[in-house]
Amino acid sequence: MKTLGIETSCDETAAAIVHNGQHVISNVVASSSEMHIKTGGIIPEVAAREQIKSIVPVIDQALDQASLKISDIDNIAVTKGPGLIGSLLVGIETAKTLCLLYKKKLIPVNHLLGHIYAAWLDPQNTPHFPLIALIVSGGHTDLVYLKDHQDLIWLGGTRDDAAGEAFDKTARLLNLDYPGGPAISKAAQRYFQLYNTNHPKLDLFPRPMLNTNDYDFSFSGLKTSVYNHLKSKPLMESDNEAISLLTANIQEAICDVLISKSLKAISEYKVNNFILTGGVAANNRLRVKMAELLPKNINLFVPEKKYCTDNAAMIAAAAFYNQEFIDPASLDANPQLTITD
Ligand code: KG4
Ligand code: ZN
Repeated sequence: MKTLGIETSCDETAAAIVHNGQHVISNVVASSSEMHIKTGGIIPEVAAREQIKSIVPVIDQALDQASLKISDIDNIAVTKGPGLIGSLLVGIETAKTLCLLYKKKLIPVNHLLGHIYAAWLDPQNTPHFPLIALIVSGGHTDLVYLKDHQDLIWLGGTRDDAAGEAFDKTARLLNLDYPGGPAISKAAQRYFQLYNTNHPKLDLFPRPMLNTNDYDFSFSGLKTSVYNHLKSKPLMESDNEAISLLTANIQEAICDVLISKSLKAISEYKVNNFILTGGVAANNRLRVKMAELLPKNINLFVPEKKYCTDNAAMIAAAAFYNQEFIDPASLDANPQLTITD
């Protein structure tokens, strides 16, 4: 079964064709993130306007790359939420129109579920149930327990900023470009290269809610700590060494809390399988440290980096395993959708 996935929840316009939920035939992502550097973050109207410009060329490119015509596609999957309303609507209206014109079946997909199914895009290494999944993105931080497809329990999530937001906002305090995650990761890498393994403890900043008896997270205090630190020790211009030290500390504080709560869930729910996914899962330090600290009997599934950040292959994969068709005329965007909706 060939599914055309369409994803437009934020500032990426993405289309992909996936066979049987696992084999990526084509995968195209156009991002307007360059446009958001000037503003230090996303202006929703700007992102939506860029979606309109990109959606048709991106879908055409996905079909071209796959050497397929729209008539060769079995069904169409589209992100219904959560996300920015203007951006979501572009993908949804396009998917509805294609379904009506070409008589295809439409499958709406929860973007957060899509991030989980990114882990299915490696046919050599398919996750097994039951499992725990940690979804860490720009808008969400969620720990979930999956007994099977369509059998999901939400364990906890962030009470304020998401992990990606913590990267983005602290990066802004350090005058690093948007999106902050990759910028912090790059600057922090310099620190690790400089000090190799002999680096002192990276404990400049607190690990919020590390020891609370739940699966919740809170990252807004980290932003305040970085702000206060910079007030007492302002950065000198192009002080790369200080930036490397601070970014390594920010990254470590975020990683430590994410890893600790994941390990707690894995142990309490007695699972052998763990998925780490979402844009923040593209972070090298998180990938390496998680793999190091995870007990050896636990299978770790981390999607390739291009499938951690927003893409449409994950939407097509989620649709294959959750085939709930909908009358195109009745599909609406739901910007507030949660993982259990
Ligand atoms: O999943 P995603 O592409 O979009 C949302 O669904 O939000 O995640 C975007 C987030 C941004 O906050 C970005 O800074 C973060 O993922 N991110 C990273 C890295 N790459 C992207 N965070 C840390 N390290 C990275 N290498
Ligand atoms: Zn996402």
